[in-house]
Amino acid sequence: MIDVSTTFTGITFPNPFLLSSAPPTESESNILRAFEAGWGGVVTKTIGLHPVVNVYGAKAKFMRTSPDTATVSMKKRPDAALHSSWNWELISDKPLDWWEPRIRRIKDAFPGRVLIASIMAGSGNDKELGHWQTLAKACQAAGADGLELNFSCPHMDRKDMGSNIGKDQGLCSVVTEAVKEAATVPVWCKLTPATADIVVEAGACFRGGADAIVSSNTFPSLPLIDPETLDFEINVDGLVSSGGLGGPAILPLALAKMAQLTTAFPDKSFSGIGGITDMSQALSYFLLGCGTVQVCTAAMLDHAIGPNVIKRLNQEYREFLEKHESRGWNSLEDFRGSRRDRVVPQSAIRRPNPSDYNAGYDVVEGYAAPEPASARTA
Ligand SMILES: Cc1cc2nc3c(=O)[nH]c(=O)nc-3n(C[C@H](O)[C@H](O)[C@H](O)COP(=O)(O)O)c2cc1C
Repeated sequence: MIDVSTTFTGITFPNPFLLSSAPPTESESNILRAFEAGWGGVVTKTIGLHPVVNVYGAKAKFMRTSPDTATVSMKKRPDAALHSSWNWELISDKPLDWWEPRIRRIKDAFPGRVLIASIMAGSGNDKELGHWQTLAKACQAAGADGLELNFSCPHMDRKDMGSNIGKDQGLCSVVTEAVKEAATVPVWCKLTPATADIVVEAGACFRGGADAIVSSNTFPSLPLIDPETLDFEINVDGLVSSGGLGGPAILPLALAKMAQLTTAFPDKSFSGIGGITDMSQALSYFLLGCGTVQVCTAAMLDHAIGPNVIKRLNQEYREFLEKHESRGWNSLEDFRGSRRDRVVPQSAIRRPNPSDYNAGYDVVEGYAAPEPASARTA
């Protein structure tokens, strides 16, 4: 009875676990290894048409925390636990014509696995919108099963690219609509978490025709300053720029974004990312309403593509379904979103004496007394 496969935006996945767009999916050999290891799908490292030149030296590092002092640092030391990844890597430095034959070969080798092409262009003029369409047409012609629009890269200088699109609801709609005009496959939009209300940008993407929203990309962040050298732990000539935080540290933050999204759009499709290493974390995203989840940091730390991570995810997912089979949970659709309605305003949470609390407002007596506190959102 148990079925670990799932259908998301019309695409059938052998399991709901994907490698996200990042170093694990930057090459043909990595993606082939990922499929051999058991990942249900991959989102390629983001492909663009503009020239890409990365910074000198390390593009990503890992921060660890010590249990006794709670120190967070990139310095390697014994007994420290993973805190987060930090990166300032740009999109793929390989051109579109490098990717096209590789996408084709990967799909030929693994027709039953899902390959989503992550793409990025500008948005400042019609030429840039045309670039999105060029990328979309080329990737789908090469065999990509879907497209993920990168509205989320946090370290772009260009004001019309990456998270700068994801911070502008007008651009979110216009770009999504332009891609939808050219697309014959489902279109997902990956939004930046760095906005006041992600529901606004998601709504704009849906109005543009998006088939799903993907969240979260990394959160804007800086590495720490080394107290000995007084330099940032990653720097080039002493200088640093804002980069992206991923891994365990962002899990609760990304979950909060996802809860906002799935509550606002309960009938839409969402792919969850942020701090996933095993089924316990993936489950939070599923119970909030996600139809797939994606992994980056944990896979980078496990032989670059996460063979042990996906083995554990697949095994724990099957065990979870077996454990809950008696409740009628045979596949993801049977329990997806079943804890979404547990996220409520403060005023809806029980307190020792409910009559003491008036949603933060002064208690008004007499005829002017307002509606009950539980009806308000403070
Ligand atoms: C080194 C590095 C490079 C990344 N490159 C991309 C990229 O090209 N496109 C993209 O959409 N996200 C990119 N990401 C973001 C990841 O896909 C993912 O959204 C983020 O790391 C959060 O997931 P995690 O907590 O599992 O790491 C990158 C992340 C890292 C660490």
